[in-house]
Amino acid sequence: MSAKERTQVGIIGAGPSGLMLSQLLARHGIDSIVLERQSRAYVEARIRAGVLEQGTVDLLEEAGVADRLHREGLVHDGIEISFAGGMHRIDFRELAGAGVTVYGQTEIQKDLNDARVADGACIVWEAEDVSIENFHGAQPLIRYRSEGVERKVSCDFIAGCDGFHGVCRASISPANLDIHERVYPFTWLGMLAETPPISEELIYAHHERGFALFSMRSPTLSRLYIQCDADEKLENWPDQRIWDELRLRLGGEAAERIQESPSIEKVVAPLRSFVAGPMRHGQLFLVGDAAHIVPPTGAKGLNLAAADVRLLYRALVDFYASGDKFGIESYSERALRRVWKAQRFSWWMTTLLHRFPEHSSYDQSIQLAELDYVTSSKAAATSLAENYIGLPFD
Ligand code: APR
Ligand code: PHB
Repeated sequence: MSAKERTQVGIIGAGPSGLMLSQLLARHGIDSIVLERQSRAYVEARIRAGVLEQGTVDLLEEAGVADRLHREGLVHDGIEISFAGGMHRIDFRELAGAGVTVYGQTEIQKDLNDARVADGACIVWEAEDVSIENFHGAQPLIRYRSEGVERKVSCDFIAGCDGFHGVCRASISPANLDIHERVYPFTWLGMLAETPPISEELIYAHHERGFALFSMRSPTLSRLYIQCDADEKLENWPDQRIWDELRLRLGGEAAERIQESPSIEKVVAPLRSFVAGPMRHGQLFLVGDAAHIVPPTGAKGLNLAAADVRLLYRALVDFYASGDKFGIESYSERALRRVWKAQRFSWWMTTLLHRFPEHSSYDQSIQLAELDYVTSSKAAATSLAENYIGLPFD
């Protein structure tokens, strides 16, 4: 695909935000270019979360990329929470009227890539030194290098879909950004293993040795996490140590059901809560991880990105259809209202389930009392359920 010099929407980043946006805009006749620093193979190999709210599933349907998701996705009507030696189920469908779909972000990435390629989309992989200019003016400009050639593309709008470490947020004057951040004093060690899940639903475990999560990708593929120290090194965690630790933290029958198998992938990731507002600066919009990060405990990262994309693509469709600027002008405020509620929920789940180095026996007892409350009070369980399945997209 030859690179264009003019487009309506210049999209930086081909993660789920950038590709979803480009796909939805194309379906409404709006032209875009997507500039991605990494190769397609690299982007498709990244293993990320895998729990979709109904709003995200609906958006993927709207984008025309939900066929495989409907065939292969696992619909879950609740989760299990393990603490103090017992297992407790939160029934989302009964309490909040919906479930969630377990389908890896990696698969969504592949489905979106396939759809964009079939559509003849302009995606530049391995675009180097992307920079953005003049986004406070009427004709923003993006410069980049591709296969050794310096290129530029002028556009009406720029969508910064380039994740937490991207160039778009970094191009905004710090004086114009409000940053809110919390870094947690621990990490998650994640492992993918070809072994059947030990339960039909995800198990979130609170334990004095630290948090653990048993998740899955398919009936034969499990995704596991254990809380580790902030400075933890992957080389200290051979597979056997992870299985042993997981068994200790899950305890009881769940531990007995574990069938060990060699890891396919292992990663240590920090936990962070982060919001940068506003999410619009002139003709530049920040979308997804470029504007906000949540700790993975509530499984909200991808769903938040989807909610941003939905607001933005509709705003752009309205603008190009009739010159209506309401969506564009209200994008940041509407997106942030939802972002902050998901921030609250992700922070709350994280605080409820992890062992904090500074916690006293008093703090630990409060955690256990809250877990007891959440799993025994219908009101408290409903609050968890309605947040986990996802608050309304708008
Ligand atoms: N130039 C071009 N591309 C860039 C640049 C740059 N300077 N910097 C980053 N990128 C690309 C990254 O390589 C990545 O492919 O932007 C993309 C951003 O994708 P994500 O980090 O996946 O962010 P987003 O699309 O908003 O997805 C949000 O997916 O990444 C998860 O945890 C995240 O679940 C959340 C959701
Ligand atoms: C995952 O399957 O990777 C996953 C599931 C739930 C979470 C976080 C990660 O809260």
